[in-house]
Amino acid sequence: MMFGTVVRTLLPLLAAVSVGARMMSKAELHAKQVEAVARIRANLPRAAAAGTGVKNITFTNPRASEFYVDGTTIPDVDWDIGPSWSGLLPISSAANETRKLFFWFFPPGPQGSLDDLIFWTNGGPGCSSLEGLLQENGPFQWSYGQAHPTQNEFSWTNLSSIIYLEQPVGTGFSQGKPNATDENDVAAQIVGFLQQFLDVFSELQGKKLYLSGESYAGMYVPYLANYIYEHPGALNLNLTGFFVADPVLGWDVVQEQIPAVNFVHKYEHVFSFNQTFMTELDAIAAKCNYADYMEKHVTFPPKGLLPLPGKSTEADRGCDVWDMIFDAALTVNPAFNIYRIFDTWPILWDVLGFPGSFFQTQSPIYFDRPEVKAAIHAPNDTTWAECSDINVFPRGDRSLPPSFTVLPNAIEKSQRSVIVHGLADFILISEGTRIVIQNMTWNGLQGFQTPIQNDSFVVDGMGALGQTHTERGLTYFEVALSGHMVPQFSPRAAFQIMEFLMGFRENP
Ligand SMILES: *[C@@H]1O[C@H](CO)[C@@H](O)[C@H](O)[C@H]1NC(C)=O
Ligand SMILES: *[C@@H]1O[C@H](CO)[C@@H](O)[C@H](O)[C@H]1NC(C)=O
Ligand SMILES: *[C@@H]1O[C@H](CO)[C@@H](O)[C@H](O)[C@H]1NC(C)=O
Ligand SMILES: *[C@@H]1O[C@H](CO)[C@@H](O)[C@H](O)[C@H]1NC(C)=O
Ligand SMILES: *[C@@H]1O[C@H](CO)[C@@H](O)[C@H](O)[C@H]1NC(C)=O
Ligand SMILES: *[C@@H]1O[C@H](CO)[C@@H](O)[C@H](O)[C@H]1NC(C)=O
Ligand SMILES: *[C@@H]1O[C@H](CO)[C@@H](O)[C@H](O)[C@H]1NC(C)=O
Ligand SMILES: *[C@@H]1O[C@H](CO)[C@@H](O)[C@H](O)[C@H]1NC(C)=O
Ligand SMILES: *[C@@H]1O[C@H](CO)[C@@H](O)[C@H](O)[C@H]1NC(C)=O
Repeated sequence: MMFGTVVRTLLPLLAAVSVGARMMSKAELHAKQVEAVARIRANLPRAAAAGTGVKNITFTNPRASEFYVDGTTIPDVDWDIGPSWSGLLPISSAANETRKLFFWFFPPGPQGSLDDLIFWTNGGPGCSSLEGLLQENGPFQWSYGQAHPTQNEFSWTNLSSIIYLEQPVGTGFSQGKPNATDENDVAAQIVGFLQQFLDVFSELQGKKLYLSGESYAGMYVPYLANYIYEHPGALNLNLTGFFVADPVLGWDVVQEQIPAVNFVHKYEHVFSFNQTFMTELDAIAAKCNYADYMEKHVTFPPKGLLPLPGKSTEADRGCDVWDMIFDAALTVNPAFNIYRIFDTWPILWDVLGFPGSFFQTQSPIYFDRPEVKAAIHAPNDTTWAECSDINVFPRGDRSLPPSFTVLPNAIEKSQRSVIVHGLADFILISEGTRIVIQNMTWNGLQGFQTPIQNDSFVVDGMGALGQTHTERGLTYFEVALSGHMVPQFSPRAAFQIMEFLMGFRENP
């Protein structure tokens, strides 16, 4: 960071440019930043009576103590995070069961509700939910670029209990041979695990359950919700709603290709492509029926089912603009991050080693450290990676994207359902999610009937930060300035969205 005096001393030319502008002292700059953060904090209603510690939650089953984690023993975390419980549990009660999933459960913080349970999963497929814990919505945070862990003021434990689950089999610390063939197999694994979990942590039975996740969890979460709704006796939990952020819900051509060139235009100065390349992209977008797709087909209400732009559900030959853009972006910005397009050189240190546009090689990886494994009852003979090297669907995932199958049922059976998309995400693009929604029929009608209003998502203490729209039990959010991992990049917005989902606030 450069401050006024330094600028004047070292860069007289730059200083000359700012003649007339008031040079700020380091203290003045800092005061502005502190004020901005205070404004956001002051508007967290559930934070008003801030305290420390957690709700007094005790588990009477003696087996629970095998999973107890002493909050003072988490490596590199230099404060007491309070009690939590973690370890491996099998996915069935069968004596010969070899498949186990790794979980980490946190009770609610002092303002959190004891009546609810949030389930969080990351995507991939094959990526660990401990990413969500450490870098998105957990009580302590070690995101990329951070020198050491910090408390997360926007921890979802401030709302209620939360369980992070590494799934399906093949992910993270999980044990056993992966053999899932589709999303119902995955849902059956998770429900089997949750039955074992509720046996040990029986005080959680009967709680209201909220399913949440991002990215490929756009597949997991709706299929899991549908499975739970269709097997009403399976779990002693009251599934009430779900949250999917930057989710896989439809075809690749829709969520990546159609909106890609529009996206580059919207962020022209971030991509900084040369004019020749922009002209080439525009020509391909026109030829492949991407260019005018939104205008022609994404109407409120929709005029009928929305067509594919060509023949393929991925990209027709010569129409893969998404890959062209990715390659060109990496040419001018080798640190280009498809998960958050604003990143530039240098590539930031990441204790999880991923995700970025590429695997980073620094070590050690936090959850692969022996002392970390020991602190959280993780198997010390399992090598941990944020995203698994083995395929968790050995023969592929046979399930169709959920907007064509189970998503409508999941919305119809839920009190509230939330789809969120960060506007600075390039791996999946928000305009594509709009297409998916307009092509889906739920609660008797297709798509949203009235237009999504600009600037309609107002975050307390921040003001308009994107769009939101609700119809027939589904609320859609677009979050400005956020990349793929919304709870990481826009934690205040994600917190507010969860408050809405869980009924802690009336309006989105
Ligand atoms: C949320 O929880 C964190 C971590 O436990 C705590 O430091 C923070 O004060 C809480 N914030 C709010 C808004 O309640
Ligand atoms: C927590 O609850 C247990 C049992 O319900 C009780 O024995 C204990 O005193 C409580 N602790 C606190 C700090 O309230
Ligand atoms: C356990 O045994 C049953 C019955 O023999 C069999 O169907 C099942 O596949 C076995 N499970 C595992 C995990 O080996
Ligand atoms: C996966 O393997 C388990 C244990 O052998 C077996 O019970 C289950 O039916 C298999 N699932 C599939 C989808 O093949
Ligand atoms: C589940 O939660 C909903 C919403 O709060 C409530 O109306 C319903 O009675 C609950 N059902 C059960 C079985 O507890
Ligand atoms: C719209 O949905 C229909 C099926 O309901 C599907 O065949 C078609 O490919 C979808 N269009 C898009 C653009 O996803
Ligand atoms: C313009 O960008 C394209 C795509 O990265 C690249 O192939 C081409 O060489 C660039 N042209 C110039 C003059 O840099
Ligand atoms: C690894 O874990 C096993 C089982 O929990 C334990 O017996 C063993 O001592 C551990 N080994 C090391 C090197 O920590
Ligand atoms: C909403 O904002 C977009 C740009 O982000 C603009 O193109 C569009 O015209 C605006 N819509 C309305 C109704 O003002």
